[in-house]
Amino acid sequence: MSKSYDVVVIGAGPAGYIAAIRVAQHGMKVACIDEWKNKDGKNAFGGTCLNAGCIPSKALLESSELYHRAQHEFKKHGIRTGDVSMDVATMQKRRASIVRQLTGGIAGLLKANKVDGLVGHGRLLAGKKVEFTPIDGGPEIIDADAVILAPGSTPIELSIAPFDGDRIVDSWDALEFDVVPPRLGVVGAGIIGLELGSVWARLGATVIVIEAMDEFLFMADRDVAAVAAREFEKQGLDIRLGAKLTAARVSKTAVIADYDGADGPQSIEVDKLIVAVGRRPFTDGLVASDSGIQFDENGFIAVDDECRTRVKGVFAIGDCVRGPMLAHKGSEEGVMAADLIAGETSGVNYNVVPSVIYTAPEIAWVGLNEEQVKESGRPYKTGSFPFAASGRAKAMEQTSGMVKIIAATDDDEILGVHIIGPMAGELISEAVLAMEFSASTEDIQRTIHAHPSLAEAVHEAALAVDNRALNFINR
Ligand code: FAD
Ligand code: NAI
Repeated sequence: MSKSYDVVVIGAGPAGYIAAIRVAQHGMKVACIDEWKNKDGKNAFGGTCLNAGCIPSKALLESSELYHRAQHEFKKHGIRTGDVSMDVATMQKRRASIVRQLTGGIAGLLKANKVDGLVGHGRLLAGKKVEFTPIDGGPEIIDADAVILAPGSTPIELSIAPFDGDRIVDSWDALEFDVVPPRLGVVGAGIIGLELGSVWARLGATVIVIEAMDEFLFMADRDVAAVAAREFEKQGLDIRLGAKLTAARVSKTAVIADYDGADGPQSIEVDKLIVAVGRRPFTDGLVASDSGIQFDENGFIAVDDECRTRVKGVFAIGDCVRGPMLAHKGSEEGVMAADLIAGETSGVNYNVVPSVIYTAPEIAWVGLNEEQVKESGRPYKTGSFPFAASGRAKAMEQTSGMVKIIAATDDDEILGVHIIGPMAGELISEAVLAMEFSASTEDIQRTIHAHPSLAEAVHEAALAVDNRALNFINR
């Protein structure tokens, strides 16, 4: 007799495992299938985010940032350390241990919530049946009343620079380097390029980033992008804009990357080349041809605003569907899909998905940037507050950057908040909450912020929208 569940989830990344737990919280019988295998050959739940993305990258960003500060900042505080050196093996051991603890924690969470975590490959067949092939056995068929597809994404591979796992690598390999490459090339000045470029630059690599677009950080507000470009240049990141990779050749000792740049064809010779030109939905072997699932022109599973596919009772969430490829966006879609399956009303407010780039300084935003507001035609006003005027930022020795708020002139509604500076990724939550509640800048102006805190910069930026900043000279 075939197994049956109320709901089967394929994929246990932040979209899938959260969906499975929420389904279980509704009292339904649920299985969550995942095939992720780490480089040590062990299977683990948590998907890209925990194993090869958000968590390991933040672990390395923290280690490399501390190393950098110990070298360059401690002296200012009067701390004498002598020679500071980096033991990459210990740093990597810490990274792997954090990943192990967290992925083990997900297995524990699934168990505690009575979710059956099944290790192996899942494939959607016609009629909401799922073919499950365990890692050590033959396929079996599982019946489900509803299915949630959460297979995630995988790095885009360029045919002109195929990954070889040694010299030309993807972001996962680049998180696991065991020595600092003296010369590092990065293709793509996107989020991965900047985060991983920062890690290895702080540890001593000479980093060249080649970026096809002429504009730096095109998705960010222009004021923020300008500050970021200045800061990264100061840190020694050599970011070459308008530079499109045309070829990459591997020799015994190096990689030669050719690109078309502003001054014509150019080449760089590096020890490792990270190709970080985006990710594609990972749907290989996910659905049978008669499953009824449809894809859009970019290979994403076609869904509506509620993540329903064209097949009744089958949802798709996370990186495999339209929208930003972010863990928290996928998790919220997981909660929504589970609630809808349980017959409840639910939804995701796609207008307030925060984005964070964990460089130093951090960059975070929510809502529209100034260009987008301008294009919308709605009259607007802006207010900014520099961290250089924040007591807390000064005490932290982290005064680069600012908070910028864009609001509608007519009803003072907050339309976008853009932060570059210390803890921007934490500060943005206030803005997300404010926008979720359709707050005005006056709401933030009248909210008490602890002193001295970085959050005061958000308060002051809200005041600055009406030229009422109190700790800064208004324009
Ligand atoms: P995934 O996390 O990719 O999980 C999908 C899972 O499904 C995988 O385990 C996969 O093995 C499994 N699977 C796929 N197909 C099948 C199948 N047929 N059968 C069984 N199992 C299957 N996002 C942030 O929000 N913040 C960050 O700081 C951040 N940092 C990142 C850093 C890096 C280097 C990278 C690469 C990504 C980062 N991201 C970050 C993006 C984030 O990792 C993804 O948005 C997120 O993991 C997507 O979640 P998901 O559940 O949709 O997919
Ligand atoms: P990305 O889309 O952020 O950036 C890719 C960059 O590569 C673009 O700027 C693009 O113009 C450039 N590019 C493309 N082809 C090129 C070529 N041939 N030559 C030179 N440049 C080229 O993609 P990335 O950095 O790979 O990250 C993928 C996704 O992972 C992100 O979009 C994000 O959703 C997620 N992520 C999120 C993080 C976070 O939230 N902090 C951290 C890391 C990744």
